[in-house]
Amino acid sequence: MGTGANLPFYPEGLSLTAIDFSSGMLDRAREKAKQLDLEVEFRLMDIQNLQFANHTFDTVISSCVFCSVPDPRRGLIEIHRVLKPNGRLMMLEHVCSERPVIGPMMNLINPLIARGLGENVNRQTGKILREVGFAVDEEHLWVDIVRLFKAEPS
Ligand SMILES: C[S@@+](CC[C@H](N)C(=O)[O-])C[C@H]1O[C@@H](n2cnc3c(N)ncnc32)[C@H](O)[C@@H]1O
Repeated sequence: MGTGANLPFYPEGLSLTAIDFSSGMLDRAREKAKQLDLEVEFRLMDIQNLQFANHTFDTVISSCVFCSVPDPRRGLIEIHRVLKPNGRLMMLEHVCSERPVIGPMMNLINPLIARGLGENVNRQTGKILREVGFAVDEEHLWVDIVRLFKAEPS
């Protein structure tokens, strides 16, 4: 969920469950939901260890999350588990470029950024999505770094 920046963009009539492992972030998102008069179930939870039954959700959405999840593979396996078999996952994420020079440069600077800002600029989210069992359609929104992933359990 983060700060709840996405909350104004959800269509009306959805049943929304939002998680974050930071209680401070959830407080900010709760405030935003209140201002928007949105009903959201907020849960303090680690995406690497979701407290939901298998096949619970129709749709899972993340935006700019997987750069900071400590073990992205575990997080994506958990999403796969809690999605319904005909469910879908939509992610707006920045990842490592596959271009010569840019990609190796991102790998080179990643340890510094991870140490300083707690986020990673060299994640291979598309590759991991496919490895853990998603069929993936991806759109490159900025260079090949900011990508929109639309994925379904395969
Ligand atoms: C850059 S922010 C997300 C931005 C978000 N789209 C917003 O509206 O603010 C990344 C968020 O992911 C959360 N996060 C990172 N790793 C997580 C994990 N393992 N489980 C749950 N939340 C996590 C962070 O606490 C942070 O709030």
